[in-house]
Amino acid sequence: MQAKPRFNIGLMRPIIDEEMIEAGVSALRDERLVMGESVHKFEEEFARYCGTRYAVSTGSGTAALQIAFQSIGVKNDDEVLTTPFSFFATSNAIIHAGAQPRFADVENFGFNLDPRKASEKITSKTRVILPVHLYGEPARMEEFLALAEERDVSIVEDACQAHGADYDGRKVGSLGLAGCFSFYSSKNMTVGGDGGMITTDDEDLAKAARSFRDCGRASRYEMCRVGFTSRLNTVNAAIGRVQLRRLDKWNSNRRGIADLYRRELEGVDGITLPPAENSEETPVYHLFVIRSLNRDRIMKHLEENGIESAVHYPIPIHLQAHYRREYGFSEGSFPESEKLAREVLSLPIHPMLSEQEVRQVSETVREAAQLTS
Ligand SMILES: Cc1ncc(COP(=O)(O)O)c(C=O)c1O
Repeated sequence: MQAKPRFNIGLMRPIIDEEMIEAGVSALRDERLVMGESVHKFEEEFARYCGTRYAVSTGSGTAALQIAFQSIGVKNDDEVLTTPFSFFATSNAIIHAGAQPRFADVENFGFNLDPRKASEKITSKTRVILPVHLYGEPARMEEFLALAEERDVSIVEDACQAHGADYDGRKVGSLGLAGCFSFYSSKNMTVGGDGGMITTDDEDLAKAARSFRDCGRASRYEMCRVGFTSRLNTVNAAIGRVQLRRLDKWNSNRRGIADLYRRELEGVDGITLPPAENSEETPVYHLFVIRSLNRDRIMKHLEENGIESAVHYPIPIHLQAHYRREYGFSEGSFPESEKLAREVLSLPIHPMLSEQEVRQVSETVREAAQLTS
């Protein structure tokens, strides 16, 4: 019989407590199932939390991105410039909106789109720059906003992994023309299933987004565009309202865990820690991601000891089959993203992870580093 592993530590864990269950059940009992009162309240509260005038909920983060682009008026042949090192839904949404994704590589340090490289990729067709706040780490928004102004393009933030992160005293999702969030169950907050949100200060954009997500309606029986059925269900919104009230505390727990990982793993041979925090940014550590040339070996050692880890993402978007085929990308097209794909490793992180568990994970990573050095 195989020996039981030393530990039993999962990568992430969605939290659904009694108050959330109660909220969901009472929404089912008392409200309209679709576009009930909880949906409107969740949107108001989410907008207030992010510091925007409007928030429009959707059926997913992908739908939030697609609808944001279409509400801005992005269409055939327009380009949306983004990073190839993200979850592939980032660029799926661009294609769903009928536009073309255009990529620029990430920074040499860190994980996010490089503003300088992005600036070199802007063409006369570029309508939107889409920085992704990957792993909950804000992108360099000051530079992107300056670039957008100079080149007359819009900024949409992919904040699907960054609920509650702060950049220069403002919440992500409130810095560009629009911000897009996902509530998929692994995110820093969920709605107990799929869901998404668009945040914006722009009244016309919010109005168009509300219509796009609701079949293209202008009013009950009139439609002004060909829209989608991509509404957030009332029961999910009711759960989301309770989750939102917990978000700051959960994010603060995540920052505490990241801090402890840093102390535990500082100076370990062959391991690079995520970029140090600075006064401009408050990340929310959707993931705590280290880098190593021996990533696969470390992952295996963690697994053998009962610790789950994962790679976000082993294949950059430009090397996925569709992009190789349709755009002719190959190895070497975006070297920094490809390097990240070979080296990144996500360690367990969620608000309930104990100090002892963080120390156990760190100890196991240190052992693996010794084995491989
Ligand atoms: C960076 C990023 N963009 C977009 C999405 C798409 O969100 P969803 O899965 O809710 O469609 C996700 C998450 O899954 C994501 O992590």
